[in-house]
Amino acid sequence: MAAVRKVKTAVVGCGMISNIYIRNLKQLFSVIDLTAVCDLNAAAAQEKAKTFGVERVMTIDEIAADPEIELVVNLTAPVAHYSVIKQMLEAGKHVYTEKMFTTDLAQAQELVKLADEKGLMIAVAPDTALGAGVQTARYMIDSGLVGDITSGLVSVTRNQNLNSESFKFLQKAGGTLPYDVGIYYIGALIALLGPVESLCAFAAPAPLHEKQLLFDTANPDAWTIPGNNLVTASLSFACGALVSVHFNGNAVGSETSFMRFFGTRAAMEVGDPDTFAGEVKLTFPESGTVTMPFTHGYNGVNMLPEKGWFDFYGHRGIGVADLAWAIREGRPNRLSKEYGLHCQEILQGIDEAAATGSVYHLKSRCKVAPLRPGFFSSNGDGRSRADAERSLMA
Ligand SMILES: NC(=O)c1ccc[n+]([C@@H]2O[C@H](COP(=O)([O-])OP(=O)(O)OC[C@H]3O[C@@H](n4cnc5c(N)ncnc54)[C@H](O)[C@@H]3O)[C@@H](O)[C@H]2O)c1
Repeated sequence: MAAVRKVKTAVVGCGMISNIYIRNLKQLFSVIDLTAVCDLNAAAAQEKAKTFGVERVMTIDEIAADPEIELVVNLTAPVAHYSVIKQMLEAGKHVYTEKMFTTDLAQAQELVKLADEKGLMIAVAPDTALGAGVQTARYMIDSGLVGDITSGLVSVTRNQNLNSESFKFLQKAGGTLPYDVGIYYIGALIALLGPVESLCAFAAPAPLHEKQLLFDTANPDAWTIPGNNLVTASLSFACGALVSVHFNGNAVGSETSFMRFFGTRAAMEVGDPDTFAGEVKLTFPESGTVTMPFTHGYNGVNMLPEKGWFDFYGHRGIGVADLAWAIREGRPNRLSKEYGLHCQEILQGIDEAAATGSVYHLKSRCKVAPLRPGFFSSNGDGRSRADAERSLMA
């Protein structure tokens, strides 16, 4: 087989989450050639380039003008997503973007249209949906072990106000729990069950938050995260499943996570979809509960020689590598723009249904192809790297 030409890639946004992306993109995926980093704060980009050995620090206009860069990874805060994605599409680049796609549905629709016109692909996080946990759960469904999923319960709780003291972008649009964290659950639901047809919902805002001086004393004296920070919703999927959703960012204490599905043959529990290795447990009527082995790699444990404080962010970057393989193989990418748009429409549909007291009917549809099973992240009892990247190839 002829060697695959690597996809020249640039990262825009060199903040917190860029550490795991840049390190993984530099070292984990044979299809990626990460050649440049960029940030409004040039010093931040210089620092990442030096730390991770990236050749060039560029401005966003330089990236746009560089004919060799084919793929741009957008790791800016949600309020900047729309403008960065638009500029990169207009410059002819494929784009992977962190979640949320945008902070406004009309903007996401516009970007999908622009990408279609230009013949470009967009990939939308969260790429934990391609991790070992969700992919194993998908394999359990596809292989018929669980039967037809008739219903499900999904919940996550966090103290989002407290989190917004240290992660300041959470104080702005896109910072409520449904958009910041619920999106991992919505992404996993879509990857497992396919598209939603309609939904209804109730919602409550975040309360005013007074600065507690725990973290950054430069925070404002008080703020309210804009939007609904607590939602309960009923989702009706095209496959026939009915799923109850509960996202509460007004909770206190440690995060709680819950995903459970009821099928015609078994019940299935899936661990935290904000990780790559949520355990998959099946319960059959007469055999108790069994934790299933992972059928796929990308379990969040990176087999790289040097350790980083950010290692717990796992295999972030799989969605970028999938997009790069899609470019080279001439196929659609898995976390497609249609997937990003559908996830966003569900969250905004929940807001709309709660505001109007009516049922919201989804206009968008999408399909997420599973990864190939049987390829893993490590070999030799966890001592060396293995060939999980093959699971991304067609
Ligand atoms: N922090 C996390 O734990 C986490 C986890 C998963 C996903 N994410 C997502 O990743 C994204 C970034 O999060 P973060 O925590 O790294 O934020 P951050 O605020 O630490 O970093 C964002 C960086 O983007 C830069 N930036 C903003 N606008 C820009 C522009 N127009 N051009 C170039 N650079 C620009 C900022 O200067 C900053 O350095 C967000 O979409 C967030 O939802 C964050």
